[in-house]
Parts: sequence; C-alpha cells; structure tokens
Amino acid sequence: MGERARNYLRNRGITDESIEKFQLGYCPEPPNWLVGKVNNVPRRIRLLTEAGILSSGNYGGMYDRFRDRVMFPIHNAMGQCIAFGGRMMDDTTVVSKAKYINSPETALFSKRKQLYGLDIAKTSMTRSRRALVVEGYMDCIVCHQFGFTDTVAVLGTALGSKHIETLRHYVDKVILMLDGDAAGQKRTSEVLELFISQNMDLQVVTLPQEQAPDGSIPKDPAEYLLAWGKDKLEELIQTKGKSALDHAVDFYTRGVDLHNDIHGAQQALDRIMELMAKIPLEPQARGADPQFREHQILLNLAVRFRMEPADVIARLKSFRQKLKANPRRNWDDYDDESDETEQTTQEQNIEAVLNGEYPSEWGTQTPYERELFELLLNNPQLWPNVHQSVMAEDLRFAPARQAYQLIQLWTDQGNEFSVQFLLDNLADPRMKAWVIQRLDAGSRNPVANANESLNELLVNFRNYRIDRQKPEILEKIQESDPGQAEIPWSQILHNLRTRHGISDSTDGTDRGDDPENNPPF
Ligand code: CTP
Ligand code: MN
Repeated sequence: MGERARNYLRNRGITDESIEKFQLGYCPEPPNWLVGKVNNVPRRIRLLTEAGILSSGNYGGMYDRFRDRVMFPIHNAMGQCIAFGGRMMDDTTVVSKAKYINSPETALFSKRKQLYGLDIAKTSMTRSRRALVVEGYMDCIVCHQFGFTDTVAVLGTALGSKHIETLRHYVDKVILMLDGDAAGQKRTSEVLELFISQNMDLQVVTLPQEQAPDGSIPKDPAEYLLAWGKDKLEELIQTKGKSALDHAVDFYTRGVDLHNDIHGAQQALDRIMELMAKIPLEPQARGADPQFREHQILLNLAVRFRMEPADVIARLKSFRQKLKANPRRNWDDYDDESDETEQTTQEQNIEAVLNGEYPSEWGTQTPYERELFELLLNNPQLWPNVHQSVMAEDLRFAPARQAYQLIQLWTDQGNEFSVQFLLDNLADPRMKAWVIQRLDAGSRNPVANANESLNELLVNFRNYRIDRQKPEILEKIQESDPGQAEIPWSQILHNLRTRHGISDSTDGTDRGDDPENNPPF
C-alpha cells in the first residue's frame, strides 16, 4: 500500500535511512480506512478525534483526516508522536486541494511551540550551540540527510517567540534559513520583531536565487542541498548569515547609497523605526531587559546611519507617540499611567539608587564590580585594558553589565569611550544614577596608580571566572565515560596555575592562551 509513497519520497531525494529516522509513512486511500481499523469502538474514536487524527463530519460521524498522503509524524522533544503532517502526492485521485494537511491544535500539539525534528536535533544542537531553522518538513529531513543534524522546522507558521523559548533550552544562536523568493523576504519585519523582543542571537540566511550546476534554480534549502551539496550550504551559512537587524537594515536600504543619498537613508531608517515602534517592550521571562536591548539596537543603527544616537532615540520616541495618538492601535493600552505619576515614581527611584537601595531585579553588586567602575569612570583610558580582560558575562550586577555592553558596542565601532557617552546612552535613569554614584565615589578616593589598581582588581575577575567554570568542568567529568575519560586536565591545571599566579609556559615553549590546544604537559 505504501509503494507510491516510497517512490514519491525516493524521487524527491529522501533516502531509506531518512524514512526510517523520521518514521515517515503513508496513509491509505480508502475513505474511513482508519475509522474501520478501530472497529468503531467509541473510546478509541474519541481518543483519535481528540488527537486530531479523525475529524468530525457534518452529520456527527467521524472520518479520516488524512487520505492517500505521505505522513510526517511530528514528535515532541521527548520523541513522543503528538501530531502529523500529510503531503499530497501529485498523482492522487483524492479530491483535496491542500498540498499539506496538518493535525489541528490539540491538547498535545501547538504549532506555535513545537518544532519539527527537535527530538532528533536536540543533542546535536547542544553540541553545535546553534539551531538551524527551516520552513518545511522536506527541508528539515534533507538537511539532516546532508549532515546538518542541528536542523528543525517550523510547522506552517512563522518562527515566533514560543519557538525561541523552546530553543533557548538548547542553544544561544538561531539561524533562520529563508527561501530567496518574495515569501521569504516578507518575513523581514517578523524576524526583526522577534530579534528585538527576544534576547537571542538570531541570524538570517537567505537562499540566493541562482542557477545550480544541474540547471535548476533551487527555491528552498532541500532543493539547494540536492543541487549544490553540503559544503556550499555550510559556506552560505558562514558567509551570508546576517544578524536579524542587519538583515532588516539591508532589506530596507536596498539600492540606497547610505553615504550620499540622505533622503533615501532617512526613509529607510523611518521604516525601521516604524517597525520598532510597534513592538511593545514587555518584560521577558528570562531576565532579558528589552528596553536595554532596544537601546543597543538604536545605537547600532545610529552608527550605521551615521547619526547621533540621541537623534535616533528621539525618532523612535516620536513614532511611538504617533502610534499612541492613533486610537485604532491598542498595544499601548496597558501603559496608561499619567505622565505625572510616572515622573514622581521615577524621582523616587533615582533617589533610592543614590541612597544605595537598588532594585532587586538588578541582582547583587559585588565589590569588584563597584570598584571596577569607580576606577574606569575616573580613568577612561583604562578601557582597552578592561575590555581585554573582563567579559560582559563576568558582570552580574545589571547596571554594571549594561554599562559594559554599551561601552563595548560603542568602542567596537571605533568610537572613543567617555563617561558622557554612558550617561547619554544608558536607557534607565536609575542606572545613570548608579554610574554617577560610582563616578563620585571613585573621585573621592583617587588611586595612586590606576594601572596597578586595575591589575589587582582583574585577578578577582579571573578567579571569579574560574569559579564559574568549575561546575562545567565537573559536569564534563561526570559525563565522560570512565574508560576513555576526556577530563580536561590541562584546563584544570591552567586554572589552578592562573589562580596562584603561575604562568603556563614552564617548559620554555611559546604557547598561545588556549589551554585546549596547548596542553601544558
Ligand atoms: N504548509 C502547510 N500547509 C500548506 C502548505 C505548507 O502546513 N498547505 C507548511 C508545511 O509545514 C510545509 C511548510 O509549510 O512543510 C512549507 O511549505 P512549502 O514550502 O510550500 O512546502 P515544502 O515544505 O517545501 O514541501 P514541498 O517541497 O514538498 O513542496
Ligand atoms: Mn519544498
């Protein structure tokens, strides 16, 4: 009975191995084949209806949802089958126009949350630290077939925030592969919205529309792989992947000369601002600060469009106000506090910070973080050294981390760090208050030798980082098979030596800093 389905899959380049791996199948043609199979037992009929496999007809009877289709079982992350997708075959005699029929939303299945192939890809994803997201079942299967085992597919819906929440358990980077056609391009604003509202490294790869060696013009990742092969796709991901923001900027500035066409550039920026204005700044569950993220993005845009950050910020504000004035929009409804109350609470908040009472969501401030900023703000020339030795992840206290990230963003673009820059560009006035407090405290206790003080301080950060890595190392030891244990001894030794101030290079050879590649034995 499955012969035609097997041939269909074979013709589309799907191997027997993939059929096995994804448990692809076939649903027979006769009407009510499945209803017959369960012998009309009411309990079974009810279960299959709840699972969305049977549908209820006009006259109260049940009938098969899928007929004469290639079946793609959809599994949850644990590998349990929770739904199906069924693809029509071109030669079918069943009258149904839909290329795909999917299970409806059920107690088990929500297409906004679930990702096709997640059960198979999750291990590989945690290893590669990235998830490739494609838009079709076929694409996902063919990607796996060509060795992209970290691929999942969305299920007939756009990639959304619920999907990102799911992926967050496994990866910190998501690469969305879009078809090169108009439909793929249309996703630009959705992806930008997702990027801004979610604290996730989200990249976009658009398939180029060019002729392959076999004469075809591949229009989705599956066709691309079958025509070009694995290396070409990996190269595309590596070289053509863009952050969602860059993708949006490139999309809206297509054909605009940013340096000479001032009018065109302004128009492009306005379109991006218009999109951004519509995105509500709702607090995220995972501790991401959307306001700060938005701010980083605005700064980034300012650099790209060669504008003053303050002007870009003002522009967004005016777009937000325009939206607010428009009664048809309702996303600002929750924000109906009057400006006056807003102002008093804000003053109280700043007052509290200046008194040393910090909001609990900032976390606790370590003395190192405090001292680091007292030193840095009073000695801005130390920044390159700080930048080299401290990472944003080393900083746990929210204002310290955000200030660090802002300075980093600014100076990585070739700009000079100044305290004024920080004060102008920190989004949260309470954080500004913290910065001013540090500036003041540092200036009241000047140090004799700023470089020396910094070096002393940096030892603490290094030790803190080592402590943070401890659980990771222990986990590796626990995970590793005792027979062929891959215990990172060299890293452990390196850490101990660093902690005790002993340099690694005791055998006289010149090594880099990477203990993995350069075992000190
Ligand atoms: N889809 C759907 N219902 C449709 C069409 C598409 O649910 N009527 C979903 C399916 O999950 C499908 C995805 O959208 O995999 C992408 O659609 P499309 O690009 O049209 O199909 P492909 O996956 O490329 O399938 P094929 O290559 O077999 O055409
Ligand atoms: Mn396709």
